[in-house]
Amino acid sequence: MHSRTTSAATTDVLVVGGGIIGLVSAWRAAQRGLSVAVVDPEPGGGAAQVAAGMLAAVTELHYGEETLLGLNLASARRYPDFVAELTGASGHDLGHRACGTLAVALDSDDRAHLRELHALQRRSGLESEWLSGRECRRLEPMLAPGVRGGLRVDGDHQVDPRRLAAALVVACERAGVAFHRAWAERLTVSGDRAHGVVLADGTALGAGQTLLAAGSLSGRLAGVPADVLPPVRPVKGQVLRLTVPKAYAPFLSRTVRAVVRGSHVYLVPRENGELVVGATSEELGWDTTVTAGGVYELLRDAHELVPGITELPLTETRAGLRPASPDNAPLLGPTRLAGLQLATGHYRNGVLLTPVTGDVMAHALTTGELPDEALPFTPRRFDDASPLPRFPPFPTRTQPFTEQPA
Ligand code: GLY
Repeated sequence: MHSRTTSAATTDVLVVGGGIIGLVSAWRAAQRGLSVAVVDPEPGGGAAQVAAGMLAAVTELHYGEETLLGLNLASARRYPDFVAELTGASGHDLGHRACGTLAVALDSDDRAHLRELHALQRRSGLESEWLSGRECRRLEPMLAPGVRGGLRVDGDHQVDPRRLAAALVVACERAGVAFHRAWAERLTVSGDRAHGVVLADGTALGAGQTLLAAGSLSGRLAGVPADVLPPVRPVKGQVLRLTVPKAYAPFLSRTVRAVVRGSHVYLVPRENGELVVGATSEELGWDTTVTAGGVYELLRDAHELVPGITELPLTETRAGLRPASPDNAPLLGPTRLAGLQLATGHYRNGVLLTPVTGDVMAHALTTGELPDEALPFTPRRFDDASPLPRFPPFPTRTQPFTEQPA
């Protein structure tokens, strides 16, 4: 045992990582009567501080991700009730907006791409309507005159991830979840079983179940056996925040997105006047630098879609890290190490998947089994993966165990 180690309380569940995924799991587990603690120096931080909060099950559909689509849709259906319950539990407005989304094309290549997406959506039984460029501009008059057509998806909504995270912290506190505002240094394993973690100050926290929910850093916790470490890597996203002055409102009435020169760009208008523009997608390890090139590309592409954005104040630039998995789907539930469960790898869908992840993990933590809807997302699907997925180089161990945007 570590020489500095001192023992503290033991709980039924110890959640490593206080981002939205760890918090919703903690909240739901506490509601089921389990004693729960969360380890994180800044609960409510992480990728949710950067994310735009699109609930885009339909407009972010990709070929080969039909199984993930099922989970995404299940979570989207739960959102209204989830928001109502969490608002009641926390007293926080989550900025949930049933605004719909318009995915537009700027040239004939984009239009061909959108036509294919539309066909895939229809084959998948999803609601999506093809509009001409003129119809798109009738819906959103700020769109560029050159828009060639688009897809209207009224079912893809938005929530404000910062408000969601803050509300989850309060809901957890009110449900009796304990917070250890510290770094988790390593997992404690003995007798082929996980027993909790040791904090950076040497305090040992015991637990019946340890839940690793540390976003893109989930593969870095010391003490986790190599064959159990989740194959999760960071994918950087730079995001801008602009402000729509009251005199310009309504600037956009719904989320507007496009693929411009192969890169996704989206504009997410909040009711409070914030306009979120995202996002780059960069495989650079744990780098969260905001670059001139990233900001330039986002503004250039957003300007092609909505020329009027150049008039708006630019209020924030920030980068976060999506926790990506080899198949772009989350890793949920028990690992091959007894006492260690995972809720990580949510990649582009962490905000969307928050409600269903809470339900799945509450079930898994109380019963030790995944519910049927989550069986395809077991971490054990990667147990025999060979060769191992490619990772960016790990940063040195002097960097703290956290997922902290710059
Ligand atoms: N889901 C939006 C993004 O990952 O950028």
